[in-house]
Amino acid sequence: MRETENPTEMTTHLLEDREGNLAIDLGDRSYQIHVVSSGLTTLHQHSALPDAPSAMVVTNTKVWPLHGSALLQSLQQRYPLVHVVQLPDGEEHKNWQTLNLIFDALLQNGCDRKTVLFALGGGVVGDMTGFAAACYMRGVPFVQVPTTLLAQVDSSVGGKTAINHPLGKNMIGAFYQPLLVVCDLSTLDTLPQRELSAGLAEVIKYGPIADMAFMEWLETSMDALLARNKDALAHAVRRSCEIKAWVVGQDEREAGLRAILNFGHTFGHAIEAGMGYGTWLHGEGVGVGMLMAAELSLRLGLVDAGFVDRLRTLVRRAGLPLRAPVLDAEDNAGRYLALMRVDKKAEAGEIRFVVIDGPGRAAVRAAPDALVREVIDAFCD
Ligand code: NAD
Ligand code: GLY
Repeated sequence: MRETENPTEMTTHLLEDREGNLAIDLGDRSYQIHVVSSGLTTLHQHSALPDAPSAMVVTNTKVWPLHGSALLQSLQQRYPLVHVVQLPDGEEHKNWQTLNLIFDALLQNGCDRKTVLFALGGGVVGDMTGFAAACYMRGVPFVQVPTTLLAQVDSSVGGKTAINHPLGKNMIGAFYQPLLVVCDLSTLDTLPQRELSAGLAEVIKYGPIADMAFMEWLETSMDALLARNKDALAHAVRRSCEIKAWVVGQDEREAGLRAILNFGHTFGHAIEAGMGYGTWLHGEGVGVGMLMAAELSLRLGLVDAGFVDRLRTLVRRAGLPLRAPVLDAEDNAGRYLALMRVDKKAEAGEIRFVVIDGPGRAAVRAAPDALVREVIDAFCD
């Protein structure tokens, strides 16, 4: 059985520059992650932004009316021309057709190699804008302005960009880093509660894989997070970004360690694809997926039942589902297994799972199909 170990349990690794901003260390592709209480209206002042004749805001029809004008007014103070393209909203639109709308807008507006793209929205907008930036004229600069909790704690950082394929989640994409990430906490005021909970799944994941002190903090702070207490949200976003930056700084292209960030995602992606994109939110799939992966870890003898119970309590308190959907009435476990074989971590058709190898430590390994079937059966009614 092949294993990839998480070589170091992360406790405290502060990745700050002299001004106290988080930074991700990737050599000449390094960039800052700003976590601010309000930042859209002053974004144009940022020194990381390149001068250019034009910029394009890529957003969607839901986010633009809520937060578009603040960003537009700022960018107009910096760029002579600011174009806007509004994509249809939803995971079901994270595909070629929608990606092409960005290329259409770039070409129709005569955008060139210097045009700076700004992704204003959640992970769907961010992943598609990043992919468009990677492809347009073989690469143009882009900035992440994430407006969901999920995007602020995970998808805007680290340079994974992608669209979905009907056969598999995020299967077509590129590694392409932004110039800057600005997490404006005030944008979370308009986020529906279900989306806040979905974002909490990606926050929770950092505890079991890397930082038990953070898991303990989440246990005491979950009510404050659900109530959108700004100090609690600021800490959750900062700490999540720190851990992610620390992992990505060591393994940008997921040769090994970075895979631990996919804790819960192997089961979760199967749920998203199997139910049809957009039916279950990404974070909901990850939430129950973490519980399934923890259960697998338990059955592999890597963690004890007490740890799995703690994680379940946290996921329940975040308002996330604890049970997984049936994907096929005839052969449910078989359907899950078939979908999980399309996962990017699979090798030669062998599924590899992120398991918890003791609290605060993750590992990537294969597991016998029979054991995985038992876990799926235990979670699906
Ligand atoms: P999303 O982008 O669909 O946003 C969720 C919903 O909230 C959408 O309806 C969106 O329009 C709306 N919304 C966004 N900001 C809002 C605001 N401030 N107020 C009100 N509504 C707002 O979903 P998500 O959860 O942000 O991201 C999920 C996506 O991220 C998935 O496609 C997943 O694969 C991807 N992802 C990528 C990475 C990565 O490393 N690139 C990591 C994790 C997840
Ligand atoms: N969200 C997993 C990663 O960025 O690697």
